[in-house]
Formats: sequence, structure tokens, C-alpha cells
Amino acid sequence: EGALSRLQVLAAHFGTAEASENHPGGIKRHPTLAGAEEPSHQQASVNTPYKARTGITSRREYERLYRQSVEDPAGFWAHVAEGYDWKQKWDTEHMRSNLDLDRGRVSIEWFAGGRTNICHNCLDRHVEGGRGGQACFLWEGNEPGQDAVMTYKQTLDAVCQLSNWLKSVGVKKGDRVALYMPLICELPIAMLACARIGAVHSVIFAGFSAEALAQRVQDCQCRVVITASGGIRGKKTIPLKQIVDDGLKLAEKAGFKAEVCLVFEHPAVPRQKCPWQAARDVWWREAMARQASHCPVEWVGAEDPLFLLYTSGSTGKPKGVLHTTGGYMVMAGCTTKYIFDLQPDDVYWCTADCGWITGHTYLTYGPLLNGAQVVLYEGVPNYPSPGRVWQIVEKYKVRQLYTAPTLIRSLEAHDAHFVTDSDRSSLRILGTVGEPINPRAWDWFNKVVGEGRCPIVDTWWQTETGAAMLTPLPGAWPLRPGCATLPFFGVQPVLLDEKGKEVQGAGEGILCLKAAWPGALRTIYGDHKRFESTYFSTFKGYYFTGDGCRRDEEGYYTITGRVDDVINVSGHRVGTAEVESALQSHDTCAEAAVVGFDHPIKGQGIYAYVVLADGTSASPEVKKALVATVRSQIGAFAAPDSIHFAPGGLPKTRSGKIMRRVLRKIATKEEDQLGDTSTLADPGVVPKLLETRGK
Ligand code: WTA
Repeated sequence: EGALSRLQVLAAHFGTAEASENHPGGIKRHPTLAGAEEPSHQQASVNTPYKARTGITSRREYERLYRQSVEDPAGFWAHVAEGYDWKQKWDTEHMRSNLDLDRGRVSIEWFAGGRTNICHNCLDRHVEGGRGGQACFLWEGNEPGQDAVMTYKQTLDAVCQLSNWLKSVGVKKGDRVALYMPLICELPIAMLACARIGAVHSVIFAGFSAEALAQRVQDCQCRVVITASGGIRGKKTIPLKQIVDDGLKLAEKAGFKAEVCLVFEHPAVPRQKCPWQAARDVWWREAMARQASHCPVEWVGAEDPLFLLYTSGSTGKPKGVLHTTGGYMVMAGCTTKYIFDLQPDDVYWCTADCGWITGHTYLTYGPLLNGAQVVLYEGVPNYPSPGRVWQIVEKYKVRQLYTAPTLIRSLEAHDAHFVTDSDRSSLRILGTVGEPINPRAWDWFNKVVGEGRCPIVDTWWQTETGAAMLTPLPGAWPLRPGCATLPFFGVQPVLLDEKGKEVQGAGEGILCLKAAWPGALRTIYGDHKRFESTYFSTFKGYYFTGDGCRRDEEGYYTITGRVDDVINVSGHRVGTAEVESALQSHDTCAEAAVVGFDHPIKGQGIYAYVVLADGTSASPEVKKALVATVRSQIGAFAAPDSIHFAPGGLPKTRSGKIMRRVLRKIATKEEDQLGDTSTLADPGVVPKLLETRGK
């Protein structure tokens, strides 16, 4: 389950005959936005001068270190790890991994025998080093003028209080704690408090619905849930506690009961307006008042779990990706330092939410490991005006800005004065992540936002990889719009061709990673078999990324998009199977098939084909109800942009497989490229679908 056969993947990517039969894939490309843009490999390179303080200022220097990192990974990473505090050093043979199923169980181990604590390295280490008075979090609220600063010492005290409270309610090392919170300082504080005592946090993005929350809380059995009364984003108040109550009720019906719920009172929803269960719920402020601001660190094993983060794949329910402590810490710290040239005191802003992996590695752990001042912004980028992001940059004198192509495209749509009205002279490095960035948005980011003087680091990675894998290092080599350029230290990308052989030199193929890196996921929570089959069975001995990729003569890598059934909506991974199953749960829906299409702002949008149940006729109300079902089962971000009723059924092969290639071409109005439809059980469904397509 979760696995794609090698043939399916290759066929999907290379467009061979089987693709249509077996696999939805089809070659996917950058969203080209109305097809008007040149693809990234035809773009000229851009040389932005920047002298990195890390000392890596040329490709030559990088290559020297890169070679070391792949020739002697254990030695290279041990050297990096020495930059952090360890209670106990790792064994001399600390790197023990097997990625090859033919040689037994897949397992990844780094710094075996070592004991450390990531919270200690993020906070205590800086406070003990005399930097306790420096700002740790620069929090900016939804409304301009609403803000707060927390120093490293204040953050440490708050973390200790929460750790003590967690212990007081019986949370022990290894226990899972769910966090469902707005982007306020208390969210990273709660992550750090769990890490401090060896508890495993599972952050659930506050845009997920009650049902999605229930599913996640239940899967990893979180006895404790931490939330807020509510949150506010733009003009919208979100009743978080109400959603938690609904979710926990659902979980209870399914047989799992959370025992304690800690609630931070957010001004957006005053406590009188909050649903409350006195036997279970506790107010954050009252609970902390009773806790000491000192809490000893639990020194955990390098391979003890740090966190779980659920992510969508091509099939089945979301997977709880498990990261452990030592390797993740070393790689989060090291990548942040080199990619953002991050030094203590730098004001750094990553616009991601802690609910996604970027918010774990590059909003919380990475920057704090480096002692930076981290901007946290609770609101949305265009509130109260499309100039807000740039006002925040000016206000805090942000040096590094890390964001997503979606945000760039949505702000690019407005007049340039929204950008130029604010002083951006503090900016030195710009970064993007989450989805391919189209060259036009890249250009705008470079020229209008960065005034042509800030290198753009286009970082490719995944929830599973823990840290950036392909990325420019600022100033070290020329950039190209839409291109992630070269592998980070210790990362060994390979492109596999249609025979599953490694492509040498320039070429295109399926992106896989060879050899283990310290930040890699270790398993899928509670399902090691699924971990092995999803990532290591498609190509034996390689980690399968699910992305297509091109390598050019310079050795630069360009991601061409997913080759599996995952849709990337505004940088959020959405599994087609999940959306289909949500639609099918509605009694008006007999059958559903979901495909992605290029969307000018979101990168990809969701297009759903629905076959209505007998006795239901197509109407705007039914459409609304179907969209509402997806919202309530997954979350608003997964709501289909289009619903297409298919009165004649879905195009299927004689063996009953849905031919998604055809559905995708119809959704994107490329019916001239439908390809061979002669293997369809009923070729007549195609003209019917074309007839019923909206304008
Ligand atoms: C896509 C986000 C192109 C890719 C950190 C990957 C990208 C998926 C880039 C992982 C990039 C991420 N260029 N595509 N720079 N970064 N992706 O797990 O398809 O939310 O497999 O991790 O996003 O999404 P995830």
C-alpha cells in the first residue's frame, strides 16, 4: 500500500504506453501560467554578488566540501555535530543505515550512542553563552501595531513552565502531544517544551478541519492536546477551540479519548465564548502561573523521536512522518546556516506556518539553533493591504526572507508601489520553497523585491527529507530562475531513466536520493512496512521522492513537478485519493476522480469529476454541498476549484482503471492532446465529458 510500481512511475514520467493504463502521471511541468513563459532551462543565469559570511563563496569551495561530505559522510557530519552540545558523544561507528530492501529492513541511524536535546541547543546554549537578553521571537499580530518581543531568556522560562506543566499531567518521554494553534509565540514554545522533556510533538496545521484533526490525534494517540481559544487571519476569526472540541468528540466516537486540553486564551475569541469541558480543559495562563520557570532537560538518545508530522501521499490516509533528534538537529542547524548565511542576531523571517515542515525546520529549529531573531507573523500577507509583507520587512529590518511561490505570485498581481513604498534595503537573501517557481515570479521577486541585489535560494525538499536537499548557496554560483541548482552537502541526488538506470550527465528522470542523510525520516508512525514500500520499493536501494527532475550541463537540477498522484496547492500537499474519498462520502456522489491543473496563483488547483448517485440531479446546491464536504473532512485549502459532473461516467480502461491522463487533459482544455483513447472500455465517455465541461 502506498507503493507505486517502478513501471507505473516510469511510464507516468516518460509518457510510455502503460502510463495511460496504469498510472495517472503524465509528464508534469512547471506551471507555465497561460503557457507564456520560457521554461527554466531556457533562462539565462543570473549572477548576484553576495559574499557569504560562512566562507563558502565559490563553487570550487563548495565542491571541495561536498566531496568530503559524500566520501566520508560519517566524519563530515560528526564534525558538524561537534558545533552543538551533547550530553554524551556518539559512537565512533555512528552512521548505520540500510536503504536496500534486498538486504533486509530499511533503517537509518545517525549519531548512534549520542545523547543530546534540541531544546537545550536552541535556547539554553545561547542563554548560557550570555545571549539571553537578545530577541528570540519578534511577533507581529494580525493588526498592524500589534506586536511583542520575547528574548531568548524569556522564551526559555516560558518553555520550562510548559514542560513542567506537561510533566504535571503525566506526559513522559516518548508520549505524543498534539498542537493545534495559531502562529503565536506559544506555538514554537509548545514544540520546544515537548522536545525539552522528550515528548513527541505532532503539530496539526490550524487550517485542518475537525475530522482531519480527529484522524491525526487518533492515529498517534495524543493524550494531550494544546490549542488556543481561537485565531485571527485577516478579517477571519477561527474558532480553534470549537474545532478541537468537535474533533475530540469524533475521536472519542472512534474509540480514542484525549485526556487533557490546554487552551491559550487568544483575544480573537474571549474565554466566555469558548466551549468548555471542565473535566478536561485547562487555561494556559492559570496552568503556567503554578509552574516553575526552571525545568531540567531530558537528555534523549540521538535516535529518540522528536516529532511527527502528517503528510499526504498518492494513496491512503495521511502518513505520520517521524523525525528523530540528533540527525534532524544537526541538519536543520547546518542547512539554515549555509543556505541563509544565518548568523546570530540576524533578523530572519520565514512566512511558513509551524503546521508544515518548513515551519518546523526553518521557522523554529533551524533559526533558533543559529541564535537568530525570528519574525513570527500571525496574519495573512495581503491584510490590511497587499503591502503588509514589505511593511513588516521594513519594520523589523528583515535580512533573510523565506517564502513560497504562491505568496510571491499573489503579491506580484498588485501594483509595484505596494512593494516600493516600503524600505527593503535590509534584505540580503530571498528564499522560496514548496513548489516550482515560475520564471516570471522569480524575476519579479528578484528585480522588484530584491532590487537585483539579493540572491534567491530556491530550495527543494520534502516533509520526509527534514531539511533542504537541492539549493543554491548564496553568492557561491550563478542562479537561474526556477532552478534549485545543486545538492546540499551530503545529499546524493540521482536521476533514474525508463529502465531504472542512473542517468549520467545532463538528462531527465525520476529524482531519487542515494545514501542516507542525517535529517531523513526514520519511519512512518506505526507502519514501518508502509515506510519501506512508499519510499524504498519503487527503486531498490534508493529513496524515491515522487518528483521528476532535469539535470543540465552545469550539473544544475530543475524540479519538473510530481510524478505521482499528489497535487501541490499553494505549496500544500494534497493527495487526490483523500479528496476523492471525501467527495465519495457524500451521499450525492457515486464516484469521483480528482486531478490537478495549472493555476495562476496557487500553482496547482483541484479539479474534481463527480458521477452523481442515482436520483440526484446536477445543481449548484449539490456542488456547494460537495465542496463543503471536502472542507469539513480535510480543510479549506483542499476544496476543489471546479466540480465537473460526469453524467456519462468516468473514462476507464477495460480493467476498470480510471484514465486520469484523459481527465487531466480535459480539465486543462488540451483535448487536442488526449492521446490514444482506444483502450477505453467506452470511448463514448470522452465526448460526453467535453460537452459537459464548463466554459
Ligand atoms: C514540492 C515542502 C519545486 C515537491 C518543503 C516536493 C518543490 C513537495 C520545491 C514537498 C521547489 C518543494 N521546487 N518543487 N523548490 N520545494 N517542492 O512535503 O513536489 O510539503 O516533493 O515539503 O513540494 O512538499 P512538502
